[in-house]
Amino acid sequence: MRTRLTEALKVEHPVMLAGMGGVSYSRLVAAVSAAGGFGCLGASTMGDEQMVAEIAAVRSLTDRPFGVDLLTAAPQDMPAKVQAIIDGGASVFVAGLGVPREVIDQCHEQDVLVVNMCGKVHHAVAAVEAGCDLVVAQGTEAGGHTGQVATMALVPQVVDAVGGEVPVVAAGGITDGRGLAAALTLGADGVWVGTRFIATPEARAVPGYKDRLLASDEAGTVITRAYTGKTCRVLRTTYVEEFEASGARPEPFPGQVIRSMTDGANHLGGGEDTPDVDPDREFMPAGQGVGAITELVPAGDLVRSFVDEATAALGRADALA
Ligand SMILES: Cc1cc2nc3c(=O)[nH]c(=O)nc-3n(C[C@H](O)[C@H](O)[C@H](O)COP(=O)(O)O)c2cc1C
Repeated sequence: MRTRLTEALKVEHPVMLAGMGGVSYSRLVAAVSAAGGFGCLGASTMGDEQMVAEIAAVRSLTDRPFGVDLLTAAPQDMPAKVQAIIDGGASVFVAGLGVPREVIDQCHEQDVLVVNMCGKVHHAVAAVEAGCDLVVAQGTEAGGHTGQVATMALVPQVVDAVGGEVPVVAAGGITDGRGLAAALTLGADGVWVGTRFIATPEARAVPGYKDRLLASDEAGTVITRAYTGKTCRVLRTTYVEEFEASGARPEPFPGQVIRSMTDGANHLGGGEDTPDVDPDREFMPAGQGVGAITELVPAGDLVRSFVDEATAALGRADALA
């Protein structure tokens, strides 16, 4: 399945692992890249030293291309962090919340592509004007920080606005190859998948997170500012219910992150051995596709099944034409 995305990323399959903070660590990233997809490290929960060590761990597990996603960095810290990402061997830098022009130039001078996350058409237009090489059109269905426009509506509008200039990657609620086929049909060049990859043996997660994912149905998520101060789609918990019922004003990002950590309800970045995690209160970002996830599947198998299912779905669609 060759698209402009596979060409740009130099990979076999148009399936990208989302750079999920707390989840997309070296084991998962390497498994996706080794299977011919594109793994993206989620560095937002990592300190600088841990990020460098995780990048080195990916490199030791696979020689295939991979990227690194930094959700935030103070503008003055970004060039040094991005240089560490480039020096570690990543071929893509993903800016979760925007990227300064000089960092784009820094990446391009060293043959690294820059990807921007977009929840609205004008974000995508601005990203391409600034020099980004790919855009991810992320619909509200997505787990994690999210906007209001649905994937089905957003993707073709982003494709119409910037698809003539750069590849567009669809995200939000995509959990299998039917979603990949739909994204390609909407004019996207591939998919950026988060929640489905949490339910893999390779994903990093605090105790109870994967079990809650498997047990949740499609209505099991809610958008709240309770954990980070920004609108974030998470598994519904009593912490969210109490926060929403209290009428409390969230502290601006990242103050509310610290608040939820202090409240003992945010251990994102911890592993299975993290103590004192209460899954009824814990910060567990997840998208609306969660109801479709019923078992843990090795990440490499998932990448291959996305492609096989998409091929079958496109064949069924072709037979209707
Ligand atoms: C646990 C989790 C953590 C996330 N962290 C980040 C992040 O640090 N940076 C970012 O750009 N997006 C982050 N996201 C959003 C994903 O990149 C992606 O857009 C989203 O998961 C796609 O929707 P889906 O979950 O329905 O597949 C996160 C999502 C989840 C579920």
